[in-house]
Amino acid sequence: MTSVAKRAQRGKFISFEGLDGCGKSTQLEKLAAALRRQGVEVVTTREPGGTAIGERIRAVLLDSRTAGLEPHAEMALMFASRAQLIAEVILPALEAGTWVLCDRFTDSTEAYQGGGRQLGSDAVLRLHELLCGRMWPDLTILMDSEVSSSVKRARRRNRAAEQDENRFEKESSAFFDRVHETFLQIARRAPQRVALVDARPPIEKVHEEILRVVRERLMGGQTLIKPKEEADNALF
Ligand code: TYD
Repeated sequence: MTSVAKRAQRGKFISFEGLDGCGKSTQLEKLAAALRRQGVEVVTTREPGGTAIGERIRAVLLDSRTAGLEPHAEMALMFASRAQLIAEVILPALEAGTWVLCDRFTDSTEAYQGGGRQLGSDAVLRLHELLCGRMWPDLTILMDSEVSSSVKRARRRNRAAEQDENRFEKESSAFFDRVHETFLQIARRAPQRVALVDARPPIEKVHEEILRVVRERLMGGQTLIKPKEEADNALF
C-alpha cells in the first residue's frame, strides 16, 4: 500500500535582530499581521524565552539583581533557552508548514556575548553548531539603528512601563558599540541570510521595506493577483 499522505511545505523561519530599543518587536508583530492577512500560518516567539522553561531562564538572565553572572554562564543560558525553543516551538512549527517569526536568535548571542562581552564569535558559532545544528533562519531582518538613540528609547520604554532596566540595558556605550559593530560584521559575512534594514524612518516606512525584503528573498519577488479590495494590503 502506498502512502499518499500530503506533506506540508516547510514553513519559513525569520529572525529579527538589532539593538535594544530599535523597534524590532513592533516590526515583528506588523509582519506577522501582514502574513496572517495573506492566509499564512505564523507563530511569533522571542529569545531568551518563548517556552515555559525558557521564560524561567529569561528571568535569571535579565533580572538586574542577577549580578555576577559569569559571561560564559550567560552564554550557556542563552543557548539553553534556545535549545528548548527549537525543540518545543521552532522545529515542530516549521515541519507543520507554519512560519516562525523570532525576536532575536543566535546573532544576538554573537553580538552581545561574542562582541559585547568579548567572548568572540568563534565560541558562539561552535556552541550553535553543537546545540542547534543547522537550524538557522531563512531570513534575518537586522534593524540598524544608532547606539545612543536605541538605548535611550529602551530606557524611555522601561520607564513608561514602570519596568526595570534589564541587565544588558545597564551596560556602557562601549559595550553597545561592540554589539552594534558585531551585528554589522554578521551582515557583511552572511549577506544571503541577513538583510540590513534602516530602523530610523517612521514605523510604516520600515514595515514597507521589510515587506519588500520578505517578498524578494522568500517569495522570489512573486506577485499574486489579488481582488481589488485586497490589493492595498497585498503582501505577495
Ligand atoms: P528584551 O527586553 O527582550 O530586549 P529587546 O526588546 O531589546 O529584545 O531583552 C533581551 C536582552 O537579552 C537584550 O538586551 C539582548 C539580550 N540578549 C543577549 O545578550 N544574548 C542573546 O543571545 C539574546 C537572545 C538576547
